[in-house]
Amino acid sequence: MADGERTPGVIGVATARVDGRLKVTGQATYGSDFAPPRAAWAFLAVSRIARGRITAIDEARTRATPGVLDILTWRNVGDAIKPGATFSDKGYMGSTIAPLASARVQHAGQIVAVVIADTFEAAREGAQKLRISYAEEAPSAGFDSPGAETVAAKAVDKTHEDPQVGDAATAFAGAAVKVDGRYSTPTQHHNPMELFTTTCAWADGKLTVWEPSQNVWGYKYGLAEQLGVPASDIHIISPYIGGAFGSRGSLTQRTALIALAARRLGRPVRLETTRDQGFTIGTFRAETRHHIKLGASADGKLVSLSHEAWEVTSRPDNYMVAGTDASTRLYACPNVSSQVSIVHADRNTPGFMRAPAETPYIYALESAMDELAYGLKMDPVELRRINDTQVEPIKGLSYTSRHLLECLDAGAKAFGWSRRTPAPRSMRDGDWLIGWGCATTLYPTQVAPATARVTLSPGGAARVQIATHDIGNGAYTVIAMTAADRLGLPVERIKVEIGDSDLPPAPVAGGSNSTASCCNVVAKACDEIRNRIAGASAAAADSPFANQDPNGLSLSDGRLHGPGGRSEPLDRALGRIAHGALEVYAENVPHGVPADGVKGLYKGKGALAGGAKMKDRVQFAFGAQFVEVRIHARTCEIRVPRAVGAFAAGRIVNPTTARSQLMGGMIWGISAALHEATEIDRASARYVNNDLAEYLVPVNADIGQIEVIMLPEQDLQVNDLGIKGIGEIGIVGMNAAIANAVFHATGVRVRDLPVRLEALVGKES
Ligand code: MOS
Repeated sequence: MADGERTPGVIGVATARVDGRLKVTGQATYGSDFAPPRAAWAFLAVSRIARGRITAIDEARTRATPGVLDILTWRNVGDAIKPGATFSDKGYMGSTIAPLASARVQHAGQIVAVVIADTFEAAREGAQKLRISYAEEAPSAGFDSPGAETVAAKAVDKTHEDPQVGDAATAFAGAAVKVDGRYSTPTQHHNPMELFTTTCAWADGKLTVWEPSQNVWGYKYGLAEQLGVPASDIHIISPYIGGAFGSRGSLTQRTALIALAARRLGRPVRLETTRDQGFTIGTFRAETRHHIKLGASADGKLVSLSHEAWEVTSRPDNYMVAGTDASTRLYACPNVSSQVSIVHADRNTPGFMRAPAETPYIYALESAMDELAYGLKMDPVELRRINDTQVEPIKGLSYTSRHLLECLDAGAKAFGWSRRTPAPRSMRDGDWLIGWGCATTLYPTQVAPATARVTLSPGGAARVQIATHDIGNGAYTVIAMTAADRLGLPVERIKVEIGDSDLPPAPVAGGSNSTASCCNVVAKACDEIRNRIAGASAAAADSPFANQDPNGLSLSDGRLHGPGGRSEPLDRALGRIAHGALEVYAENVPHGVPADGVKGLYKGKGALAGGAKMKDRVQFAFGAQFVEVRIHARTCEIRVPRAVGAFAAGRIVNPTTARSQLMGGMIWGISAALHEATEIDRASARYVNNDLAEYLVPVNADIGQIEVIMLPEQDLQVNDLGIKGIGEIGIVGMNAAIANAVFHATGVRVRDLPVRLEALVGKES
């Protein structure tokens, strides 16, 4: 938008990111940017062993380092910090592994000491000079390691369901065409640009924490539990976030340690961590394995679908993503079975990473669907069309809306799919083998209770306060647009305050729920303002609307409008009910959440509702993704010149930021399919490539044309505004679409991600 040009503020109209200018000019303050006066610096020392005990810590050389002020180890921390429950256990933490509670070491890279000094350099030097001795035990690195313990998800989590219907084994045995395949996805780490920093300051017994967070209310309550102080004494500040992707949804163990360090020292303390520490002090996407069996009749109808999966977790925690909720509900099929198991190893606890469940699980299913299409000699788009359904197969519930076929059609058309020749290795451009692949994508529509305060001032400006988070999703913008839309004001007259635990509570920015949860409650607060103003105007003898139905009055262009072209200025209407500003506080409890669901929100636990978890319906967004790969016939170098994604994801509040979200998801899908993998040393259970030089992510040259198509979709069952959420669906189908395209190009079926050229070199089709 040109300078001075008005950004429209109507829901659904493409609107420039309201914080864009601040971000590109360096004026947006991130959690890592806050530097209270007199702050000391902290640096972590982390364990080189994955399993065992600390036997001795020689602090002499550290204490002698100029500038070093304090050293935290298990000997002086112990039970000063209480262990918290994990997010999946209805707590706030990413892991129950409490690093300085004892001498015990439970994963490589566990925090074993915190050194605090006057400068960053002194803290780092002091940490490096610690001499820590260990009694080491042989660790289990992951799948197939001696000592790794496999347990059924059902055995450790009573709420877990393995979706089943009919008799999958018998139906598979009798199926005309079958696929029986094993797939795997690797360990991956979020690697947000902004490192895992924390700054803590105490004043008059109250704690302020500056830390990038997707869950400021959750952090407040989690930290209160850990430190044994009232939550009202804790203030979390995180107005801008340099990447999150799930890594900042649950509280990590570092925050309480830095709070403790600051309290002991009587000075603010800033923790600066390194890139490699970010691999082990937070969470990550665990490696998964899948066994898929598909059986179809000769005409392509699925008769049996079985999805068995395994996920790695830490020794003490039962973290799992368990994505068969989605993979068993994607297609019509009378006989379905599924089972999820977790494998305990000596690793840090995994956690949420963009579409945690769906990215690996739908990769496996959609790869198998491609194999089935070849087995049937059927076009893969056609196979998905034949197996489409408006009723989910497990419980027979209706989808609130499902426009998968429309997405397949729109995507195929934009991509030029009809020009594809089906045989592998049949499309070529000189030395380059061309492959075209596709996959279905979906993501559960989730929404949570939320609250907001909206204050309308005379002069036609409004302030919206809500403790949500802008993790790049455009939260500032969609919230401003919603308020502008409902209050009839230009978007630049709306001031949005988020990312602060002193604001009215909103849920974790996860599960693609934020826009739906927040915009619905903001709209509700604004509607209440309109109702009060309209009511007062209709009741006033001196108003143009005296004795009229207030429901017929609306706010727009800074005026209250009614029938017959009559209107009055907002100021005059507002003046009837408020001397200054009018403030409204709203709570919203979405369908599927118990009526008292808002209580949890006030304790930092915003219960998500939706997906396949509701009693009366299921709600998902759907899409279709198409990818072209070009693979060099001799070197097997893999390029992705173009990808098309078509999505039907309910109402799109802001097409500009939505397109960025969906495109970002697709780019990450290319990254996940072809680049990313954390390598683990099997003997030591340590991450080997824990830096951005060796943990591969795409650069601009790796990304070609990305086309995003957003199909109009109205679904007023999911929530009042009809918002489904788009933060994660963009990544979900990409792994399979790419692996399927690689098969089409080469005739080589790669079932273990990432697809790298070494999987292709020397393989004949
Ligand atoms: Mo996301 S992985 O739900 O932040």
